[in-house]
Amino acid sequence: MAVRTAAAIAHPNIAFIKYWGNKDDLLRLPLNGSISMNLGTLHTRTIVSFRDELRCDTLKINGKEISGEALIRVRNFLQIIRSMSTENRFASVESINNFPIGAGIASSAAAFAALALAGSTAAGMELSEAECSRLARRGSGSACRSVPAGYSEWLAGEDDLSSLSVSIAAQDYWDLIDLIIIVSENHKKVGSTAGHALAATSPFQHSRVLSAPERLQECREAIQNRDFNRLADVSEKDCTMMHAVMMTQKPPLFYWEPLSLEIMKTIMEWRKDGIPCFATLDAGPNVHIICPASVSMALQPRLEKIAGVKEIIRSNIGGSAVLV
Ligand code: PMV
Repeated sequence: MAVRTAAAIAHPNIAFIKYWGNKDDLLRLPLNGSISMNLGTLHTRTIVSFRDELRCDTLKINGKEISGEALIRVRNFLQIIRSMSTENRFASVESINNFPIGAGIASSAAAFAALALAGSTAAGMELSEAECSRLARRGSGSACRSVPAGYSEWLAGEDDLSSLSVSIAAQDYWDLIDLIIIVSENHKKVGSTAGHALAATSPFQHSRVLSAPERLQECREAIQNRDFNRLADVSEKDCTMMHAVMMTQKPPLFYWEPLSLEIMKTIMEWRKDGIPCFATLDAGPNVHIICPASVSMALQPRLEKIAGVKEIIRSNIGGSAVLV
């Protein structure tokens, strides 16, 4: 049979209302819904080819042959694609990122969104956006938010069918910028999959999950009304709540570095002084500074002056995962 190939591009995303902890770890059904925006400047490009001659699935990231945990995760994901389709051959997967992986920029979100689209297409399926988002979720929860365009909401759902993301605003609806301060490029020691599984050991997780619907509502309305201060307040609070859970898990997860905290406090001061900006962090030490595009040019040089800041990656809002 002929080689069947497809390529796709997907963007990572940064969450305003975070996902932490599952009600089903295998299906990655989250305990609470979440809202994010896609990061348009950053992307993962993935090519999947199903071939007769392969004796196992293979994975290359940024030109390097990958083995171990990451390969097992991709193989398990390809197994889901094979079980959904008529394709039963092994596949080669080649991914290229234009940003550092494993340091708080959700590389797995872009990776599994691109893999879901390229893999399902190469396997002969034509998935709808909802079906593709659902499939991407199985590889990395937050990947389901990278499938639709612009601002996405992951509807937590009750089962495999109902847990998926939808776009709540297009990428040109509100021109926000993410200035990502790279505090460390080191690969994080504890990944989010292991972290989610221990979220319930924090005494704060229950109240965080219980109060998430209010923050989701607040965030949705802030985006719909382009109300930056509302978005800033609710996002900052939600980020701190997630990290409070992480820090009180057993064993505890401290993703913040001293410089991360320094930057967060500076940003809070600047906002008090009237500059529209706020900080948010995922499972890593890098700080995402969100601001309107109109102030981002003036803000970037100020951020560069903070002692210890070496690199800032600037991203606008991105579209959906697409075939290329
Ligand atoms: O999709 P995962 O398993 O990488 O989890 C992502 C978790 C956070 O980035 C910390 C929060 C989020 O909602 O993106």
